[in-house]
Amino acid sequence: MLALLAAFLPCLPLASGHASIFHPSMLGFNVTFNTFPYDNRPVSPLTNYTFDQWWMHGHLDYPPHAEDIFDLPAGQNVTTEVACTKSATSYFASSDGGNIQNGDDPCPGSPPSEYHTTGFSDLKGCALAIADKADFNAVQPEDFAVFSINQTCVWNRFTNFAVPERMPPCSQGKCICAWFWIHSVHYMTAFQCNVTGSISTVPIATPKVPRRCGADPDFNKQLPAPGNCTYGAKQPFYWFQAERNNMFEGTYAPPFYLDLYGFLDGAQNDIFNDSYSVIPEPHDNQTELPTSTTSVPTSVATGGQNSQSPFGSRW
Ligand SMILES: *[C@@H]1O[C@H](CO)[C@@H](O)[C@H](O)[C@H]1NC(C)=O
Ligand SMILES: *[C@@H]1O[C@H](CO)[C@@H](O)[C@H](O)[C@H]1NC(C)=O
Ligand SMILES: *[C@@H]1O[C@H](CO)[C@@H](O)[C@H](O)[C@H]1NC(C)=O
Ligand SMILES: *[C@@H]1O[C@H](CO)[C@@H](O)[C@H](O)[C@H]1NC(C)=O
Ligand SMILES: *[C@@H]1O[C@H](CO)[C@@H](O)[C@H](O)[C@H]1NC(C)=O
Ligand SMILES: *[C@@H]1O[C@H](CO)[C@@H](O)[C@H](O)[C@H]1NC(C)=O
Ligand SMILES: *[C@@H]1O[C@H](CO)[C@@H](O)[C@H](O)[C@H]1NC(C)=O
Ligand SMILES: *[C@@H]1O[C@H](CO)[C@@H](O)[C@H](O)[C@H]1NC(C)=O
Repeated sequence: MLALLAAFLPCLPLASGHASIFHPSMLGFNVTFNTFPYDNRPVSPLTNYTFDQWWMHGHLDYPPHAEDIFDLPAGQNVTTEVACTKSATSYFASSDGGNIQNGDDPCPGSPPSEYHTTGFSDLKGCALAIADKADFNAVQPEDFAVFSINQTCVWNRFTNFAVPERMPPCSQGKCICAWFWIHSVHYMTAFQCNVTGSISTVPIATPKVPRRCGADPDFNKQLPAPGNCTYGAKQPFYWFQAERNNMFEGTYAPPFYLDLYGFLDGAQNDIFNDSYSVIPEPHDNQTELPTSTTSVPTSVATGGQNSQSPFGSRW
């Protein structure tokens, strides 16, 4: 239906639904509605796709210019632009929809339900992940480690992410990063990045699959199970695709970048190889918690503001 409508109205700025970060460092920066036989704009959600279709959004053949790199200064905040269409960003000039920027609004002309939220209390969080590889083609799903979370995605066009203070330099002069978001469908936009101003060279630990360990009142779980969390570096969620998922939750219980999966808001400061001396095997009834070598928080809060049902939105 959406495809049909869009075919009839190809020149309207497509402010409808969905979202992506936009930056010249990304794959698919200039991919439009017409580039693929189906709508594969960066803002299009990825559902039940083959690996080639969902991984890197199927945009490996649409690389950025080599010099367009997103800098990640260790210990600082970075600002990204998240929007429903490139026309709503600073990069509108290379969009096909003109300039519809409207301040901090990620989706000008659309009510929040269009970007999968019934309001501020129904936000599900998004993530930035990094792999210490210099070539998009060399990265595998197991390489990405989430290093920063913003639990209030998608609400502001200008969305900030805190870069951990101890991020090591990229060993080949740049890294591959990606933005991930799940509200009720899966989004992924990859970009090239570089860590600057490092004060540590300790590498990021091998990222593990996250676990649903927080309070989950929608599913009658009132208290978190901190011993059930994955601590340290975690992979992003690869969910609801036809191939290579690492998460197997059903349609009605999507994984979210929230405390529910041990993803605390902000910089993920415990992702380094030396962050813990001991990490007990997580499981349902695990009562032992990891031993941190630094003062990073190791407990999981109660699920908090963002634990509302995903059914509030039209998805
Ligand atoms: C995924 O796609 C396959 C074939 O393309 C189809 O048979 C299957 O029903 C789809 N699954 C979901 C959950 O949409
Ligand atoms: C980053 O932003 C947070 C607000 O989210 C603020 O508390 C913090 O001081 C900022 N950090 C730096 C280094 O500016
Ligand atoms: C995107 O398109 C603009 C022109 O509209 C061009 O200047 C730029 O080089 C293109 N970027 C990439 C990565 O192809
Ligand atoms: C998330 O982004 C918003 C908007 O830029 C910002 O105010 C907030 O501080 C960010 N949160 C974190 C944890 O960085
Ligand atoms: C990436 O950052 C490092 C410092 O961590 C710097 O030496 C290197 O030149 C940067 N790479 C590029 C391509 O600018
Ligand atoms: C830390 O690095 C060592 C040596 O490469 C490796 O054996 C170990 O598994 C790493 N630890 C973590 C938590 O990734
Ligand atoms: C523990 O985590 C697993 C994997 O995500 C999940 O299936 C299970 O429901 C969780 N149990 C508790 C008590 O948190
Ligand atoms: C956890 O404890 C509950 C209640 O004692 C028990 O039913 C369940 O089998 C235990 N699960 C595991 C993984 O040990």
